[in-house]
Amino acid sequence: MTKEFKIAPSILSADFARLGKEVESVISAGADFVHFDVMDNHYVPNLTFGPVICKSLRDYGIEAPIDVHLMVQPVDRLIADFAEAGATYITFHPEASDDIGATLDLIRSNGCLPGLAINPPTPLSYVEDYLDQIEIITMMSVNPGFAGQSFIPEVLDKLTETRTMIEKSGRKVFLEIDGGVKANNIGDIASYGADVFVSGSGIFGTDNYRDTIDEMRQNLAPYSNQ
Ligand code: DX5
Ligand code: ZN
Repeated sequence: MTKEFKIAPSILSADFARLGKEVESVISAGADFVHFDVMDNHYVPNLTFGPVICKSLRDYGIEAPIDVHLMVQPVDRLIADFAEAGATYITFHPEASDDIGATLDLIRSNGCLPGLAINPPTPLSYVEDYLDQIEIITMMSVNPGFAGQSFIPEVLDKLTETRTMIEKSGRKVFLEIDGGVKANNIGDIASYGADVFVSGSGIFGTDNYRDTIDEMRQNLAPYSNQ
């Protein structure tokens, strides 16, 4: 089976003064999803952006799926706002929700696709328990909070284990890897089972987005038939 890999630049590393243009550039350079990191200075020690920025991107004309990664607690209050702002996927950290099943239902009933984000120390039992209710799993390969951290290699085995669970379920669920992904490690990460690749500094920190995304696709190509 040919795997369709998705590249999801994290706008956390974009130039916010020209955000619309930056997103337009990475999409026209071949990126698939816009990864939108929402931090609240509570669940994580950093503060980023919320639904109004998501809506601005839609109003600007961005049509690509927007993959909203909520690093916030509480979670539920923001969901309708993000749905209205044009979010496609909404993922959250299970530890941040009082009732995980209810939060997943809330995302779906607002017309978005739900997902769970799993921190490096978080057990895969959450994935096992909710696999039939989610469309995407965001496997964190850094501790959430900041762009530009190094990839934690211990997460690779969790990726493979999760890929096995997904295959067993027979459902089509994206397995996204988030943190420290660059053109030079993306192929290796793909070999462990990821099919969506978030990259912030690995794309926005380079001079030519098209060259970087082309290089990523070239490095992924050998793994597309696994
Ligand atoms: C970390 C965020 C990531 C991060 C990725 O909390 O969820 O999406 O911005 O940035 P890089 O690719 O620079 O590690
Ligand atoms: Zn993220």
